[in-house]
Amino acid sequence: MPGLTIGDTIPNLELDSTQGRIRIHDFVGDGYAIIFSHPADFTPVCTTEMAAMAGYAEEFKKRGVKLLGISCDDVASHKEWIKDIEAFKPGSKLTYPIMADPDRNAIRELNMVDPDEKDARGVSLPSRTLHIVGPDKTVKLSFLYPACTGRNMDEVLRAVDSLLTAARHKGKVATPANWKPGDRAVIGPSVSDEEARKLFPDGFETADLPSKKGYLRFTKV
Ligand code: BEZ
Repeated sequence: MPGLTIGDTIPNLELDSTQGRIRIHDFVGDGYAIIFSHPADFTPVCTTEMAAMAGYAEEFKKRGVKLLGISCDDVASHKEWIKDIEAFKPGSKLTYPIMADPDRNAIRELNMVDPDEKDARGVSLPSRTLHIVGPDKTVKLSFLYPACTGRNMDEVLRAVDSLLTAARHKGKVATPANWKPGDRAVIGPSVSDEEARKLFPDGFETADLPSKKGYLRFTKV
């Protein structure tokens, strides 16, 4: 059975968190949210990830994107661990909530289980999953990393900027490899040249490729 994937509605779970009870759909509200899991509290890579995410919180806020962590440790453990995370990055404040999932039902429903990573009792831990959820509560993009690989928050931010750019242009543009804000986007294959001329008054440039199919068109966004 495939788990939660792009286009699926994020389960509307209600869980305890370091900032009180959270119902996921209410938390997402009318904007975007990043829901990200980590294997366990008081572990090295996770501590660096949570601190890194705290450092990016302002950038996500500017874009109207909320952050929501989750792992299977309980709220009391999360609260103690936050002291370590903030001490690891002096001056930082972890402003986003971390949800607790001690019985591990939520991580299953959110497709965040790492079958290779187990606790001392042999029960599966969460993977480093990250779902970017849109205002319609569906999953727009997911990262799925194993415990050994910490995520790159620059890439999370870049992915958010790509999604927001595509959404602003109603799906008529997409962002190419290694795109970053300020770079040109590409015009989607469903858009004819005629429509593209109307949509992009500054014009567009078509790459001259051997097939002459004219499908790779760049435009300013
Ligand atoms: C870590 O965060 O470093 C970690 C957590 C679980 C398993 C392996 C590494």
